[in-house]
Amino acid sequence: SGTAHKTDTGDLVVGGVPIADLVAEHNTPAYVLDEADFRARARAFRDAFSGWDVYYAGKAFLCTAVARWISEEGLCLDVCSAGELTVALRAGVDPARIGYHGNNKTHPELRRAVAEGVGRIIVDSFQEIDRIASITAETGMTARVMVRVTAGVEAHTHEFIATAHEDQKFGFSITSGAAFEAVRRLNEAPGVELLGLHSHIGSQIFDSSGFEVAARRVLALHAKVSDELGVTMPEMDLGGGFGIAYTTQDDPSDPAQLATEMGKIVEHECRALGIDEPHLSIEPGRAIVGPAMCTVYTVGTVKAVELDAGAVRTYVSVDGGMSDNIRTALYDADYSCTLAGRRSEATPVLSRVVGKHCEAGDIVVRDEFLPGDLVPGDLLAVPGTGAYCRSMASNYNHALRPPVIAVRDGVATVVVRRETEADLLATDVG
Ligand code: LLP
Repeated sequence: SGTAHKTDTGDLVVGGVPIADLVAEHNTPAYVLDEADFRARARAFRDAFSGWDVYYAGKAFLCTAVARWISEEGLCLDVCSAGELTVALRAGVDPARIGYHGNNKTHPELRRAVAEGVGRIIVDSFQEIDRIASITAETGMTARVMVRVTAGVEAHTHEFIATAHEDQKFGFSITSGAAFEAVRRLNEAPGVELLGLHSHIGSQIFDSSGFEVAARRVLALHAKVSDELGVTMPEMDLGGGFGIAYTTQDDPSDPAQLATEMGKIVEHECRALGIDEPHLSIEPGRAIVGPAMCTVYTVGTVKAVELDAGAVRTYVSVDGGMSDNIRTALYDADYSCTLAGRRSEATPVLSRVVGKHCEAGDIVVRDEFLPGDLVPGDLLAVPGTGAYCRSMASNYNHALRPPVIAVRDGVATVVVRRETEADLLATDVG
């Protein structure tokens, strides 16, 4: 992460805190969150996208402290569940600056969002439109909404495929006419303030051509609504999904470059359509928190396994695994790893960092050359674990989910504490 460096003695220091000291006090496994780096990434998006609103996607990682930092840095917050909304409100985030997503929001969840004055509910189905309309009719309250549309673009890391896009659960299809129909119904619903269209094309995207195609299609619908319904929707959201570097081969997204590219696309399309630009927003999650966190583990066992042709792979088992980082098993994600607590001159050997769970797919780092002299007790740090690791962590095998420890200016602060066996037993009522 931004403030991480290694000392001459091989000690990894993050946010001015030597990792060995942090471990001595807080144990492992632990997520270490570099507060200055997180804030700098949030600010970089806010500054690059000046004139736009930037919603931090809390699904990547959310806790009370992070929600507070996001507000302090002038960003808005995207939540996608009642639980995330609770954390945001507890942190004191202005409800008007919260966006609420989800393809299956219940009547009580929607009622609460409306009552709290959530700034935008992103509507995802016709049933949800009915639920919202009945809530505003019943209570006399106003619901501010956006319409989640399927732009017909499925983005992948280095490409996008313009087929197979309709076959997923989110949003209203533009091509089938469902999106237009949703806009028409919401426009007529009493107590509903229709803010605009929302498009999110995917995650961990590097190729901006997917955003370009999506923006073009969503703006065309925006113009059609204004032509045919006489309604000029004031806003538009182009979603998140900006990719980050997990290994050195990747190319990190640069907010300034993204802002320039996306701004140009929107400007060009609006000119071509003869419409005014709506007030725009984006929703990055991974690109803000991903690089700002690492996970620290302790090595427990080291085992050399002979492969075909006499090659050897060293299996390094650590005290966590797929319960704190499911991404390697689930998405075939690539991570890297470094020895954190000491220096080693030993020759690097092909290693695989694995967890302590009961299955062979429990891999944290598939391939890494680690020093050949690793012993139990060594500390390993896996960078880039800020996004979708703690937030997707589980209690598989009754693992206790690790704490999140914020580091800044040499001070370590627990922002999410380690789970205890008492936490596990609290829900197991016998
Ligand atoms: N907005 C919406 C509507 C989303 O669904 C998402 C992510 C985002 C914004 C933020 O996307 P980001 O900037 O973080 O890429 N668990 C997967 C990623 C799932 C993304 C879900 N939606 C992973 O670990 O890669």
